[in-house]
Formats: sequence, structure tokens, C-alpha cells
Amino acid sequence: MELSFAPMEGITYAAYRRLHAEMFPGVDRYCAPFIAPDSAGNFKAGSLRDVLPEENTGVRLVPQLLVNAAAPFLAVARELQALGYTEVNLNTGCPSGTVVAKHKGAGMLGDPAALDACLAEIFARCPLRVSVKTRLGLHSAAEFPQLLEVYRRYPLARLTVHVRHRDGMYRSEPDREAFAAALDCPFPVEYNGNLFTPAELAALQARYPKLDAAMLGRGAVTNPALFRALRGGAPLSAGELKEFHDRLTAAYLVGGLAPNYTVSRMKELWFYQRCLFPGGERAVNAVLKTKSLPDYQAAVAALFRQVPLDASQGFFDPA
Ligand SMILES: Cc1cc2nc3c(=O)[nH]c(=O)nc-3n(C[C@H](O)[C@H](O)[C@H](O)COP(=O)(O)O)c2cc1C
Repeated sequence: MELSFAPMEGITYAAYRRLHAEMFPGVDRYCAPFIAPDSAGNFKAGSLRDVLPEENTGVRLVPQLLVNAAAPFLAVARELQALGYTEVNLNTGCPSGTVVAKHKGAGMLGDPAALDACLAEIFARCPLRVSVKTRLGLHSAAEFPQLLEVYRRYPLARLTVHVRHRDGMYRSEPDREAFAAALDCPFPVEYNGNLFTPAELAALQARYPKLDAAMLGRGAVTNPALFRALRGGAPLSAGELKEFHDRLTAAYLVGGLAPNYTVSRMKELWFYQRCLFPGGERAVNAVLKTKSLPDYQAAVAALFRQVPLDASQGFFDPA
């Protein structure tokens, strides 16, 4: 089974990916969080830095674009080609209200004819292979067959399917039934959505024996050793997680991130990693309440000292 690390805006940027690839090798591909160019193809310097090859040593990376038209996609794709990339991903899944209102991300799914026209222009002129990361629809999985008809017209490098519609955001029940329709596509298809434990992957494989690719997001951010565990390797240890944590904190600081921003960035990770410390709510909340770097580091050290790590459950939503 090929396994990809999902793009996670706010978390899986270059420093995270480099360290992850070094400490937890075996991820077949990392998809970068989206670059969002304006209509002229201009985008933030930080987004470019994130995909520079020298920032991604040891990482097999596919950059992703969030657009509502072919022109900015093609403009950025040419820049990515100059950097040496051979594949670029189109985001047709982002559910954010402001993104969807601009007909970007999952907003592209509401008008299959416009999506078709956009893909026709992209595939006619893009110098790179193009993959797509989609949802099942905008309001309903019943839209998926029509969307698949559109995708099937193009030689996609890969279609990753997050098995929810946009309105389901990240919380609705994953619709594994609807995903089945994608399996006879003439290009590689990758499953995405709520794979948090080896048992969940095994159940999916039993259901779809021909499926050979899956993408992991929140489960992998919760447990950086999840890829290894899914392949039958050792579960995450507390020592490994602490080392990963400490080296990531150090990498942000060395990279020039101010100490208080480093604390904020690390606290975002704890929304996920708290799942590894069942019964440790009090110690995790103490971490989340800190503001200064020394306080933060002391609270994290206390958490690791006081609460045993248990990686068996994977990510779970607090709500
Ligand atoms: C905080 C956060 C940021 C995300 N950023 C992106 C992104 O930049 N591009 C994208 O295609 N999907 C993004 N996603 C969606 C994930 O890549 C993935 O499709 C989703 O989390 C479902 O997979 P999972 O159940 O394994 O987490 C994001 C999701 C979350 C929760």
C-alpha cells in the first residue's frame, strides 16, 4: 500500500516534513499545504520558500494549488517546473467558507461544467503532471458520479478522494460506500479520511482489496509513527515523540520563528497529540495555557513525566 502524508495547513510545512522524513522514513509522498495564488499567479514569498527543494531535502513532495481558474494554476506550475517538480496537485476539497465563496477548493465542485472547462485548459497547457485532491461533492455524495465523469476525461496523475462532501467539513461520517465508484478510474486512486489506526486500514483493505494507496492527515499529525505502525512496525514510543517534539521546536527557532510564535505553532500540534495521552487532560491543558517558551517547555516535560503515552486509539475529535 502506498501511503501519503496529507497536506495540513498550519502544520506540515517544510521544517515539519524534513524532520518527519528523517525520523519516520517510509512515507511515499508528502503533499504540501496549498499555495493560493491571486488571479495573476502571484503568491506569498513564504509559500514559495515552503516548496524550495533545499527546504525539502529527503522529502518526496507534491506542491498543491488552490485556484478557481486555469491561468494562475499554469503560471505557478511553470515556476514549480523551474524548481524541478514533475507533479502539481489541484485542491478541489478545501471546505473553508471564504475559499468556497470564491469558487476555490470544494467550491469548484458546485459547477461540474466550470470544473471541466478549467481542467481542459490545465491539461492542455500544464508542463507538469496534474493530480487532484477532491471531496465527494459540495452538498452531497450524490454529486460524486458526475464529478468522476469529469475527472475521467483527463489523464490525472492521481485522484485523492477525501470521502466527505464539503458540508461535512471534517466531522461527518466518512462515506466509504460512495468512494467505491472511484475505484474503476483509469488513473491511480487514493483513499483519504479517518484512517487513524492499523485496524482501520486493515478494514478498508478488506473492503476494497484492489485499493493500493491511502493518504493520512490528522492520524499522522497525532502519531508521527503511524505510517510505520500501518506497515506492521513498532508503535510510537514516548521517547521518540519527545525527540520529535524537541527537534521540531528547535527547528522553528533556528529557522527564525520568534519564541512566542514557536509556542503557538507547537500548541496547534497538541490539539492532535493530546489524543496520545488519554487521562492526561489536566497536563495537556497546562501546556495549552502557557505563553512563554520556558513555561511551555516545562509544561511539556511535566506532561511526558506524568502521563504514559498510548498510541493505540489514534486521533479522536474532542466534540
Ligand atoms: C488543519 C487542517 C489543514 C488542512 N490543510 C489542507 C490543505 O492545505 N490542503 C488540502 O488539500 N487539505 C487540507 N486539509 C485536509 C486534509 O489533507 C485531509 O484531507 C483531511 O484531514 C481528511 O483526512 P484525515 O481524516 O486523514 O485527517 C487540512 C485539514 C486540516 C484538519
